[in-house]
Amino acid sequence: MDLYDCIYKRRDTRHFTQDDLPAEVLEKALDAAHAAPSVGLSEPWRFIVVKSQERKKEIKDLFQESNTKAESQITDSKQTALYNSLKLEAIEETPIGIAIFCDTSTLDSFTIGTIGNTSTLEWSCACAVQNLWLSLTEQGYGAGWVSILDYKKFENLFEVPENWRSLGYICLGKPATDYDGQPMLQKEKWKVRSKKPYVKYV
Ligand SMILES: Cc1cc2nc3c(=O)[nH]c(=O)nc-3n(C[C@H](O)[C@H](O)[C@H](O)COP(=O)(O)O)c2cc1C
Repeated sequence: MDLYDCIYKRRDTRHFTQDDLPAEVLEKALDAAHAAPSVGLSEPWRFIVVKSQERKKEIKDLFQESNTKAESQITDSKQTALYNSLKLEAIEETPIGIAIFCDTSTLDSFTIGTIGNTSTLEWSCACAVQNLWLSLTEQGYGAGWVSILDYKKFENLFEVPENWRSLGYICLGKPATDYDGQPMLQKEKWKVRSKKPYVKYV
């Protein structure tokens, strides 16, 4: 697939078929993730591949807890109804999920590029997730990022080392739809995608 086709075809997917995710597809996507840029070559991304239905159920419970909290913050009743109609995860439906963590212990005594802001470690992990996402798209698969989670509880669930910070959970599988080539949130009339990026030339 052409690079630009891949970029524009990539979707955040919440509706999947029952197809499995072949091991070689996952391996290729993880290798692509590992080829991402990282601040000071810190490579702070850590991936925990989830296959266990039991663990998925625990993650789903965390999602539901946070989602209820999110819903309670909406003040407009029409918006609440629309919010509740949105499918914002596919945790228990996808064959595989990946819990994404940022290992902040990779920040050593002098990590190039972190003088201004140590959150550059997390941005590096986001670059890795984007590579993973594009690789899956190129291979005919898809992913959906779930961030509606209490990150501290999520870290505790996986009993990760003290220095690992959670970046959420990615559901991986075969997309059942392409949402007519637009973000699902636009298709469901939650928000409209802007046509052009904000760019200023000085
Ligand atoms: C960091 C991050 C967290 C996200 N968290 C969620 C989420 O919890 N649930 C969800 O349905 N979509 C989530 N999304 C997906 C966005 O809603 C989606 O990317 C956006 O609507 C644009 O759609 P597209 O990715 O299909 O272009 C997340 C995306 C990012 C980058």
